[in-house]
Amino acid sequence: MLIKAPRAWELPERLATPESVYLNRRELAKGIAAGSIIAAGAAAPFSSASADDAVIEQVNGQAAADPTADLYPAQMNAAYSDAGRPITAEVDNATYNNFYEFGSHKQIWQRAEDLQRRPWAVTFDGMVEEEKTVDIDTLIRSMQLEERVYRHRCVEAWSMVIPWTGFPLSALVDFARPLGSAKYVVFQTFEDPDMAPGQSQFWYPWPYTEGVTVAEAENDLGFIVTGTYGKPMANQFGAPLRLHLPWKYGFKSIKSIVRVTLTDERPMTFWEELVPSEYGFWANVNPEVDHPRWSQATERVLGTSDRIPTELYNGYAEQVAGLYEGMEGERLFL
Ligand code: MTE
Repeated sequence: MLIKAPRAWELPERLATPESVYLNRRELAKGIAAGSIIAAGAAAPFSSASADDAVIEQVNGQAAADPTADLYPAQMNAAYSDAGRPITAEVDNATYNNFYEFGSHKQIWQRAEDLQRRPWAVTFDGMVEEEKTVDIDTLIRSMQLEERVYRHRCVEAWSMVIPWTGFPLSALVDFARPLGSAKYVVFQTFEDPDMAPGQSQFWYPWPYTEGVTVAEAENDLGFIVTGTYGKPMANQFGAPLRLHLPWKYGFKSIKSIVRVTLTDERPMTFWEELVPSEYGFWANVNPEVDHPRWSQATERVLGTSDRIPTELYNGYAEQVAGLYEGMEGERLFL
């Protein structure tokens, strides 16, 4: 996320990630492999394996050790098998991530190795029939996993195409057993600064919090992710449980969820609280509504040299535009 230092937080400039200093991932990874660059947080630079091999080894190692590995690969949902663009190479996706708990730059893939993905539990509370805390493996095994290929568009104007595995967000809401009066679903990431040093940066409003309306959560596109590229996801993607809302900017897709709260009050979300002039609650993709500091008309396709036009609702208008009818007064696109 690109941040202009909000006066109240006085974010140090060195912690922002301007596109102008975007570092080519392959060059960086090669530098790490060759020992010429020591990745922040890395115990030691790689010496022998090629950079790409090291990344894939990491991703596959975490997947193989996952207690739900036997559930993969899941069956492809035919309705979402083709995103109209080639799938982003796994190594490109796995080395270009926003996960501020592990650093406010993109190359957090090694730092995220510290994420302790087990034991892990998810608490369901607020306006639910009964509050409960459920072990992650019990939760995942109670769901029917499927694979979906989705476009993923960050507010920073880059995009990827990712084969996710998981289950519909609506199934998670059903699992929570909300009261009829609940209007919003709120998600929270873990909070543990010892494990995730980014959370020692006091100017961020930890824990990372996101939310959607219950109506949005019931739309078929909303997806709870447990895996990527046909296996349990690596830590940097937000293991062991994250959200993906393909019609919204990527910051809505919260990672490493530990709490799901049903409420009738619209939540204050992480980026909205940090920079309310730039990020809001709805954050639907719209090429005609620019970010205050850059255009949203086009997007850079990661792993390629392409820049392509951005589509309204990231090309998913047919499925979701109806959710926002009659809401023209709302700030739907920031
Ligand atoms: N969730 C948490 N907990 N922490 C984060 O920093 N970054 C968000 C979102 N979810 C973030 C998060 C942003 S800005 C984006 S674009 C996506 O995750 C990035 O997901 P990716 O790394 O899988 O591409």
